[in-house]
Amino acid sequence: MAAADLSLALAFLVLAGALLPAEADIGVNWGMLSTHRLSPSIVIDLMKENRIGKVKLFDTDPTVLRALMGSNIEVMIGIPNEMLALLSSSPAAADVWVSQNVSRYVVKGGVNLRYIAVGNEPFLTSYQGQFQPYVVPAMLNLQQSLSKANLAGYIKLVVPCNADAYESSLPSQGAFRPELTQIMTQLVSFLNSNGSPFLVNIYPFLNLYQSTDFPQDYAFFEGSSHPVIDGQNTYYNAFDGNFDTLVAALGRIGYGQIPIVIGEVGWPTDGAFSANLSAARAFNQGLVNHVFSNKGTPLRPGVPPADVFLFSLLDEEQKSTLPGNFERHWGIFSFDGQVKYPLNLGHGVLKNARDVQYLPSRWCVANPFRDLNDVSNHMKLACSVADCTTLYYGGLCNAIGDKGNISFAFNSYYQVQKQDEKSCDFDGLGMVTFLDPSIGDCHFLVGVDDSSSSSLMSFRNLSWLWILILGVLVCSRI
Ligand SMILES: *[C@@H]1O[C@H](CO)[C@@H](O)[C@H](O)[C@H]1NC(C)=O
Ligand SMILES: *[C@@H]1O[C@H](CO)[C@@H](O)[C@H](O)[C@H]1NC(C)=O
Ligand SMILES: *[C@@H]1O[C@H](CO)[C@@H](O)[C@H](O)[C@H]1NC(C)=O
Repeated sequence: MAAADLSLALAFLVLAGALLPAEADIGVNWGMLSTHRLSPSIVIDLMKENRIGKVKLFDTDPTVLRALMGSNIEVMIGIPNEMLALLSSSPAAADVWVSQNVSRYVVKGGVNLRYIAVGNEPFLTSYQGQFQPYVVPAMLNLQQSLSKANLAGYIKLVVPCNADAYESSLPSQGAFRPELTQIMTQLVSFLNSNGSPFLVNIYPFLNLYQSTDFPQDYAFFEGSSHPVIDGQNTYYNAFDGNFDTLVAALGRIGYGQIPIVIGEVGWPTDGAFSANLSAARAFNQGLVNHVFSNKGTPLRPGVPPADVFLFSLLDEEQKSTLPGNFERHWGIFSFDGQVKYPLNLGHGVLKNARDVQYLPSRWCVANPFRDLNDVSNHMKLACSVADCTTLYYGGLCNAIGDKGNISFAFNSYYQVQKQDEKSCDFDGLGMVTFLDPSIGDCHFLVGVDDSSSSSLMSFRNLSWLWILILGVLVCSRI
């Protein structure tokens, strides 16, 4: 390419960059309830590679925060609900929390920490109000502590709310639950005076999962044969309907204009009938396109959510299955950072994690030479420790047969135990194999090696060694 062409191309690139509209960003939730944990640096590289610039954490794990230092990824950290009582009653405890979990990371070349989530869905109906009284007092203490640390202008406190905080059959009638009206008024007035957004988690999947007469197409973004007519406004998808119900509820307490951030939204890929790859792809891509279209909603035309955090980055196979078997399958990537389905978050189709270190290619299966009648206790044990949710109705591995079920359970347990020889014994009913026992779409996993950084280092050192050797070989030939 001639120099003139090159500079023209460069000018064009710069121009194209400048013309990209300033849009809401798509971030991700990064939960860590998994026994197969990738090293934080691999996950951060995965985010960088895919230009995911915002991440929401549920705690303040030091290994993760240290790994995020210097990455420039915008970070939201979380305070568990169980800590709210202490933080609400003791300004000193809030000071210590901020210095230990915030200030030390907000240094030059440190973590780009922008939000602190005070509790996680603390008003959830099923908590029966146990965390409710602590939320606002904890915020006030934490705000004081941030001020003392000179961080108050930069780092915002927020409270992730479940959509069960408000209700109504029509969006325009939206209102917070009566017992929350007062506390929401205090909370939102604080957020507003502080320039913080309101954070909400919206899950059309759960609407569909929980109600048999929920119109399926209303959960997605392709238009609906059952739109909701609300006066002048027509709603074609559950996301907009839910969002505007919140807008109306906020308006009712005097804050109809406060920015709204979607703290969690997504679709699982396994563990229930509508939790599958094509539905997850349709929902998440539909959502991303909808947000990027800048259309907004009938009550906020032209104003998309301030930010959107997909739930979730990776599958977490240790999550509670109380809400349903799908809970362990929300990732846009599988536990090992592999793309599950093509998804474009605005920067091209997602790419897999690199340099993932797996355990050896070994699996544990049911011994074909043994009578498996006495296997049920072993199955129970294996599945109480490892994840077997995909074997149940609606799961990807539901139809692999009796023996398949047993092998799957044995293998999942064996991998959680890091392929410890003894963990495949099951009184002689288990057997290690070097042949991948996966059946069709039902994938038998191999765990990741999270003896992490040290093994990664040696791997990297080794590859440098090879490059050196190759280099010497090539040179000696010349
Ligand atoms: C930092 O946060 C973690 C989790 O939120 C908590 O367990 C720990 O006690 C905090 N540190 C201090 C000093 O409060
Ligand atoms: C996936 O889920 C969607 C949404 O519920 C459903 O319509 C579709 O039939 C499911 N696909 C498969 C292959 O199960
Ligand atoms: C495998 O286990 C699942 C969950 O218990 C069950 O629904 C399925 O029918 C089992 N398959 C066979 C062939 O037993």
